[in-house]
Amino acid sequence: MQEPAVLVIGSGAAGLSCALRLAEGGQKVCVVSKGPLAGGSTLWAQGGISAVLDAEDSLENHIRDTHAAGAGLCDAEAVRFTVTRGARCIRWLMARGVQFSIDEADPRRRLHLTREGGHSHRRIVHAADATGLAVETTLCSLVEQHPLITALEHHVAVDLIKDPATGRIRGAYLLDIDNGKVHSQGASAVVLATGGANQVYLYSSNPNGASGDGIAMAWRAGCRVANMEFMQFHPTTLYHPDRRNFLISEALRGEGATLRLPDEDNTPGERFMPRFDSRGELAPRDVVARAIDHEMKRLGLKYVYLDIRHQSEAFIQHHFPSIYRECLTLGLDITRAPIPVVPSAHFTCGGVITNLDGQTDLAGLYAIGEVAYTGLHGANRLASNSLLECLVFGESAAQHILSQPPPPTAKYPLPSWDDSQVTDSDEEVVVAHNWLELRTFMWDYVGIVRTNKRLERALHRVRMLADEIADYYVNFRVGPDLLELRNLVVVAELIVRSAMQRDESRGLHYNLDHPETVAVATPTILPGRSR
Ligand code: FAD
Ligand code: SIN
Repeated sequence: MQEPAVLVIGSGAAGLSCALRLAEGGQKVCVVSKGPLAGGSTLWAQGGISAVLDAEDSLENHIRDTHAAGAGLCDAEAVRFTVTRGARCIRWLMARGVQFSIDEADPRRRLHLTREGGHSHRRIVHAADATGLAVETTLCSLVEQHPLITALEHHVAVDLIKDPATGRIRGAYLLDIDNGKVHSQGASAVVLATGGANQVYLYSSNPNGASGDGIAMAWRAGCRVANMEFMQFHPTTLYHPDRRNFLISEALRGEGATLRLPDEDNTPGERFMPRFDSRGELAPRDVVARAIDHEMKRLGLKYVYLDIRHQSEAFIQHHFPSIYRECLTLGLDITRAPIPVVPSAHFTCGGVITNLDGQTDLAGLYAIGEVAYTGLHGANRLASNSLLECLVFGESAAQHILSQPPPPTAKYPLPSWDDSQVTDSDEEVVVAHNWLELRTFMWDYVGIVRTNKRLERALHRVRMLADEIADYYVNFRVGPDLLELRNLVVVAELIVRSAMQRDESRGLHYNLDHPETVAVATPTILPGRSR
């Protein structure tokens, strides 16, 4: 494809909604995804999308809940901007064919709203327990059919191309996974929509590609990143030897499921959350995940139980069909037995700093969705505010790009990828080993509970790995695994450095050496590398 298409890197809710809005505005777009177009975390999202639709609810309530979860660190403007656009984004999706669950008991057949932790009202719009699937597949088919959009699947963005004279982003290097070749793709603007970095931890609810590529690329190009210490751990992923990263939606707790300690005979015993928070199982995620972690460490448990058996079989099968089916295939009937669960890395609250139009520090470069730091989530994200953020900033970035005059013609030709000095790797084991090592020490030292010493140890190890990986990168031909590892080690260092700068505990960042919360909350901002 020739310039001047807009290059959207990533095909989750953020990338696809932005691409569609650009194309609906008459703009040519090229969407790149490193896997199939339908992929990323969006495909797996369960609970839903938060939006104020109930007459009893209000924007002010949603704003207050978002700030409360964010523990004093949300940007007030970003919160109001996002929340006020929620209902409009839901209508936009419905107009494009996304089918959300209807309240069957309502004679007016309005949308069914569920509830999740930290929300003071029912305000989660959902498609049973597979909201992401409904959103992603609908948007994918529209993108595939749109004449102004070209989709490049199985292409990995390696790095951004920056005009050395003006500092403007001109495109990106893309690796075609099928033939192993890297080419330079020019663009009138580049939108990073590459999702989060949660695979930096050994246990994660995310699919494999969540390796922080966009954050690392933007940082290498010179963008500032913020709040990387706030990595969200979801309290309840299934504990099962054959299925490592299957989420058990917070919506189960929204419908009354309780967390219980296993008794000696492995039956569900004490309901422990009331000991930690008066909101019980519906306290914000950081509180619930920390409580589970605390009980597991205190009692040497491998898991705790989530129990939804107070609801009828019909209710469970109707509201949670995917979770019911997935567990059943693993031999667990959740209508009759409690569900063993553990916390896992789930969401990256920090990311590439943007304004409300999704603009980063660099001209021609936007970041939207989980890759971005807009200020919405502060120190902890409120449940179901992420898909909302993807849609709101997909819209605002598209509007901003459409409102801009065409960029000035570049005075320099796009550089080509030079792999004349590299050879094929003869030691793939290095990548696999370093990947496991990185994710293991991040889990052990930079997880739910941190200490100064653990952070220092992690920084030491992360820097050693970074040197080794940099050496490997310059000597061998790149492949998808090496590229992900190279990015993961960058985000790991950004997480550790940010955590070391925060001399307090707040939201998702809990440091035993600094258990207090300081009076004035400030974001942690790290400069980009090439500054
Ligand atoms: P993603 O959907 O993760 O998409 C990233 C895209 O970028 C993918 O297409 C990937 O292929 C591509 N990509 C990445 N790197 C590169 C590269 N280098 N080159 C080319 N392409 C690249 N949030 C909610 O609000 N409600 C929920 O109910 C909810 N449930 C969740 C359940 C699960 C199991 C998970 C994992 C997350 C859930 N979340 C939920 C969080 C939410 O799903 C994500 O934050 C959101 O989907 C992120 O969307 P995104 O468009 O930013 O990125
Ligand atoms: C869930 O369904 O529990 C995930 C919701 C979210 O991450 O917002």
